[in-house]
Amino acid sequence: MLPFAALNNTVAPFALSPANDLAPMLYAIEAEQPSDGRAREALLDRAMGLNRKRKSSEAIRRGRLPADGLSFVARSLSGAVVGTVRLWHVDAGGQAALLLGPLAVAPEAKGAGIGSALMVHAIEAAESFGHRAILLVGDAPYYKRFGFEAAPTGLAMPGPFSRERFLALTFTLGALDGAAGVLRPSGVKIHRAPAARALAAQAA
Ligand SMILES: CC(C)(COP(=O)(O)OP(=O)(O)OC[C@H]1O[C@@H](n2cnc3c(N)ncnc32)[C@H](O)[C@@H]1OP(=O)(O)O)[C@@H](O)C(=O)NCCC(=O)NCCS
Repeated sequence: MLPFAALNNTVAPFALSPANDLAPMLYAIEAEQPSDGRAREALLDRAMGLNRKRKSSEAIRRGRLPADGLSFVARSLSGAVVGTVRLWHVDAGGQAALLLGPLAVAPEAKGAGIGSALMVHAIEAAESFGHRAILLVGDAPYYKRFGFEAAPTGLAMPGPFSRERFLALTFTLGALDGAAGVLRPSGVKIHRAPAARALAAQAA
């Protein structure tokens, strides 16, 4: 694996293996740009497989824009997108919250701290914008290092999900107190031109 190291503005450790004499590949955590869309989707296909769009989280993201200022990429020195994370507005049983995901790192860049750097950056940004809580569906052994714990039992995803993978991080005490019900998207809807809608309907 190529070693990766944080370029700026990240908390990722320098990851050059002493056993590896290749030059470290530097990366930076940056705001996602509109021109990153294609590279992001290709990375997600490679990292998560083509079935990724069947996840229950996808039902919340489909047809919506991510939360303003809360889409980030890890970019290599050559400009390639080697990691991605985005957050989405949700109504969590009556409480405003964010849903995080997908988080993915290019397979060849795994294990160098890029996922952690993206998570820390996204969490800090969400808190600084005044959001009160983040929810996600993912592996608890990975996400607990960022402070995630079991989501309130009254909350559910819109579709099949594993309760032990449904996690929450709150920034203010009681941010999800009393939250009960199925998560619903509350972000801005994507407006598609009539021609694009017709094409999408034909493809469905
Ligand atoms: C999960 C993922 C984002 C982690 O990114 P990464 O850059 O490789 O992770 P980091 O380098 O920041 O962290 C590596 C550490 O996380 C651990 N880790 C990685 N994936 C893990 C998982 N699914 N469960 C538990 N621990 C995990 C590693 O063992 C390593 O542990 P260590 O620090 O004790 O050595 C990346 O592996 C990935 O893109 N996977 C495919 C897509 C995916 O599963 N996304 C998350 C959905 S839950």
